[in-house]
Amino acid sequence: MAPLLRLLAGAAALLLALGVSPASVASTSAVDLGVNWGSQCTHPLDPEEVVKMLKANGIMKVKLFDADPWPVGALLDSGIEVMLGIPNDMLEAMTSYGNAEDWVAENATSYGDRLKLRYVAVGNEPFLKSYNGSFMENTLPALKNIQKALDEAGIGDKVKATVPLNADVYVGDKPSEGKFRPDIDGVMTDMVKFMHDHGAPFVVNIYPFLSLYQSDDFPFEFAFFDGGRSIQDNGGVSYSNVFDANYDTLVSALKKAGVPSLKVVVGEIGWPTDGNKNANAKLARRFYDGLLKKLGKNEGTHLRPGKLDVYLFGLFDEDMKSIAPGNFERHWGILTYDGKPKFSMDLSGQGNDRRLAAVSGVEYLPKQWCVFDDEAAKDEDMDKLGGNIQYACASGDCTALGYGCSCNGLDEMSNISYAFNMYFQMQDQDVRACDFDGLAKISDKNASTKSCLFPVQIISAATVPARPSSLLLLALLLAHALVMTTGFIIM
Ligand SMILES: *[C@@H]1O[C@H](CO)[C@@H](O)[C@H](O)[C@H]1NC(C)=O
Ligand SMILES: *[C@@H]1O[C@H](CO)[C@@H](O)[C@H](O)[C@H]1NC(C)=O
Ligand SMILES: *[C@@H]1O[C@H](CO)[C@@H](O)[C@H](O)[C@H]1NC(C)=O
Ligand SMILES: *[C@@H]1O[C@H](CO)[C@@H](O)[C@H](O)[C@H]1NC(C)=O
Repeated sequence: MAPLLRLLAGAAALLLALGVSPASVASTSAVDLGVNWGSQCTHPLDPEEVVKMLKANGIMKVKLFDADPWPVGALLDSGIEVMLGIPNDMLEAMTSYGNAEDWVAENATSYGDRLKLRYVAVGNEPFLKSYNGSFMENTLPALKNIQKALDEAGIGDKVKATVPLNADVYVGDKPSEGKFRPDIDGVMTDMVKFMHDHGAPFVVNIYPFLSLYQSDDFPFEFAFFDGGRSIQDNGGVSYSNVFDANYDTLVSALKKAGVPSLKVVVGEIGWPTDGNKNANAKLARRFYDGLLKKLGKNEGTHLRPGKLDVYLFGLFDEDMKSIAPGNFERHWGILTYDGKPKFSMDLSGQGNDRRLAAVSGVEYLPKQWCVFDDEAAKDEDMDKLGGNIQYACASGDCTALGYGCSCNGLDEMSNISYAFNMYFQMQDQDVRACDFDGLAKISDKNASTKSCLFPVQIISAATVPARPSSLLLLALLLAHALVMTTGFIIM
């Protein structure tokens, strides 16, 4: 797949050279905000269209979780600043300097100046408690090797290697008492000193939603920014939201580790819209409103006044994300699976009632749904129902059916239909995916209710026919370019 992808990545340059595209999109002025662009979905959107959408929204920084040439190719010459990722399962390989050099050669220097690479994220939350220390040994050596390879490739002054970490790497009852978690204090101290010496930032993921999710005792209002609840720190300092308190706990931990001025980047922050009783568009909008207004004011926190550097999580809902942490995991998008804004959001922080620009050019499968066949309800096949629902939900996404979620109010029949439809859509509406032992039928009647969307899936930009046709287009353009520049026809 790699050579094809590399060819495709080249297409953008060619288009530029030919002056065909990309269409110049009017950028709205926005706060200097980044977004996380994840790829764990069954039906990805066309990266070229995603990049146009980012620019239309004035979003000029993205963070990826790997270095997939497909989205990276779309980011070439876009002017968008990029953080590439090295997944945790590659950390061990990166403890060999040769492998780190190869990674930098293939995924950084090969793009030259066309990729506005700023950071390489080495691992993703590798010290998360639930990983039981699996990446403890390898993370720092991998970080050092990648930075060294960047330096030796001559780009180390502008591209910095760092490690995005979860806020669970530090503890403290009050912000001023922050320190690194005792079991990783040694490696954390070495790591932040290395970052400091190499001009790299500390990247931290902070999730007020998870604070709320993980503890029933967590004061609800403290998750937001409207000042409904506050806590007192030493010296009469008051914190009115958990984000500020958490951020300053990190700042205190950095100070204790001997790097009080280490730059901090918030690598992920956001609020999900389904899959939990506190995950919905109304609360997400409230959270983002408060966060964006705060960012717009450049007020920073008590210990770090001024501008904050923040990447929202995330761009789209991702239906292939693991739901081990919770059913909300697939619903973090500020845009839906089909690239539409979920709620009003003013990235400039002015609090205006604006909606983000959607992704254009999205194509849908036919307007049809897979639903429970009530005539089959009289059949003896009904005893096969349980197994079929289980099957549909194991592969499809039933995370909106749970308590307090968008589809929780469905009656029993619609509940079954929901599960069947999610599976059917995920399977690209294959007729064989709407059988379920004869209990299901395809219908052209929209089965959605007021709160519960029965989606129609999009045509994946990654489906097999799409890529060869891009390749054909590329070949045609290439021939055209050669004719234009040399006057010879070579086809
Ligand atoms: C470059 O990045 C891709 C995508 O993350 C990865 O699969 C590949 O192994 C990397 N190349 C090298 C040489 O490590
Ligand atoms: C961590 O340990 C727990 C309990 O021993 C286990 O259930 C879990 O699978 C382990 N996780 C990893 C990533 O090794
Ligand atoms: C609908 O499905 C969900 C998830 O399978 C289940 O928890 C719930 O009880 C069902 N509701 C009804 C009314 O059948
Ligand atoms: C189905 O109905 C819902 C709710 O009215 C609507 O949001 C959705 O766009 C409809 N789907 C299609 C494919 O028309």
